[in-house]
Amino acid sequence: EEYLETKFIGRKIYYFDTIDSTNIKAKELAYKEDEGTLVIAEEQTLGRGRLGRTWISPKKKGIWMSIILKPSIDPMKVAKITQIGAAAIALALEDLGIEAFIKWPNDIVMNGKKVCGILTEMSCELNMINYVIMGVGINVNLGSEDFSGEVSNVGTSLKIQSGKVIDRKKLLGLFLNRFEELYIPFVGKDDFFETLKVCREKSILIGKEVRIIRGKDEEKGKVLGINDDGELIIDYGNGKIENVLSGEVSVRGL
Ligand code: BTN
Repeated sequence: EEYLETKFIGRKIYYFDTIDSTNIKAKELAYKEDEGTLVIAEEQTLGRGRLGRTWISPKKKGIWMSIILKPSIDPMKVAKITQIGAAAIALALEDLGIEAFIKWPNDIVMNGKKVCGILTEMSCELNMINYVIMGVGINVNLGSEDFSGEVSNVGTSLKIQSGKVIDRKKLLGLFLNRFEELYIPFVGKDDFFETLKVCREKSILIGKEVRIIRGKDEEKGKVLGINDDGELIIDYGNGKIENVLSGEVSVRGL
């Protein structure tokens, strides 16, 4: 709270010692609570990642949280909220003197390994949004003992990468401030400019050869950039250049 400078993001907080998943709890609360309400827990027993994966959420070592949002925007634009989240994390880390990169659209990486992931879920009907839940998991002070087996190749923490123990409250405050700063112009006047700038500057994918995975299909291409809609511009090398929407693909380095 001492770090919070927001108008409405994180002004009401549901805090849990242990919970199944903050996204699940946020969905339960979404109808009765106002926009900006935060659900946060010290530990999750059923933390979930994208594509049905589990998200390890050990006690007091990370930031496991979900924000309830009620934007009056086209549901097609909800993916941009995830990008706002990713940009806000990168900026908050920069505020702490930590250089991290965005792996489009919603992972934050250091040394090629993931320190943060975002799981955005939405409820809408008749093209109107009821609510959006943006779940954010930041691996803050996890140690190497928390990454066993396969996850050690893909996951890491801010502490492992920076060599420092990080104040989770401070990082949370900085993130919420940065998030609101980018969210207000976006929902108010469709202004996505600052987020795009950050996503481009901090992108780890631009200029890289990648594999684009759609279901069982896999294609190789080179990332040319991010267009004004936040989509990835891919050059497949055979004269075909295409914009790729987040959500429909998974991108891996070669
Ligand atoms: C991913 O990269 O796959 C997304 C990970 C999202 C994890 C966060 S932790 C808080 C919130 N609650 C969940 O169960 N998941 C998200």
